Amino acid sequence: MKSQLEGESSGHDWWHIFRVRKLALMIAGSESADLFLVELAALLHDIDDWKLNLDNADGRKTENWLRSCHVDNHITDRICRIIDGVSFKGAGVSTATSDPECKVLQDADRLDAMGAIGIARTFAFGGSRGRYIFDPGISPEMHADFGKYKKSKGPTINHFYEKLLLLKDQMQTPAGRVLAEQRHEFMLLFLDQFYAEWNCKNI
Ligand code: ADP
Ligand code: NI
Repeated sequence: MKSQLEGESSGHDWWHIFRVRKLALMIAGSESADLFLVELAALLHDIDDWKLNLDNADGRKTENWLRSCHVDNHITDRICRIIDGVSFKGAGVSTATSDPECKVLQDADRLDAMGAIGIARTFAFGGSRGRYIFDPGISPEMHADFGKYKKSKGPTINHFYEKLLLLKDQMQTPAGRVLAEQRHEFMLLFLDQFYAEWNCKNI
């Protein structure tokens, strides 16, 4: 994974994978999830991500790699299914799951999209795609389907309303919910300060 994600500068570098793996194993402690599946899926979860494969998105890098390592077919299928359910797909698209490993990985990945680290990643992503930080003339959009979400080109502050602030209420594990609470509060604080500075006010 380190070599796969070498030079990645939109917040999906190896250290994102490292943090998600750690969070996932921590959250899995209080769930009846298989730790081997959780850890392997955490390590592999972003190599087929649409955001990182815009030129060549056949979505089979994970599967091909596991097969090339002669991993048991049953495990390969389980890992691919877990990863398939992880990604956020738009404000109006439900990604709720009953799969315990997917619940854990979804929460871990989403926690890394929140709080101070989430803020840093979001602006890194926006910069990598040539987005404005903020444009008061462009309002956030609540994307009703994955296609619209993928095409969005709005300023980075809009992403807080289109995704980041919605994550707290979509957590699927009790441990995830506790961690999300504090990260959510920090993002609200950041936005207050951001608008105060934008409007030349003291808060
Ligand atoms: P997911 O699979 O749920 O999209 P990832 O781990 O791939 O989760 O990371 C998504 C992160 O990439 C977002 O939380 C954000 O930091 C960044 N990102 C994705 N889309 C945008 C966007 N439109 N504007 C700003 N940042 C974005
Ligand atoms: Ni991720």
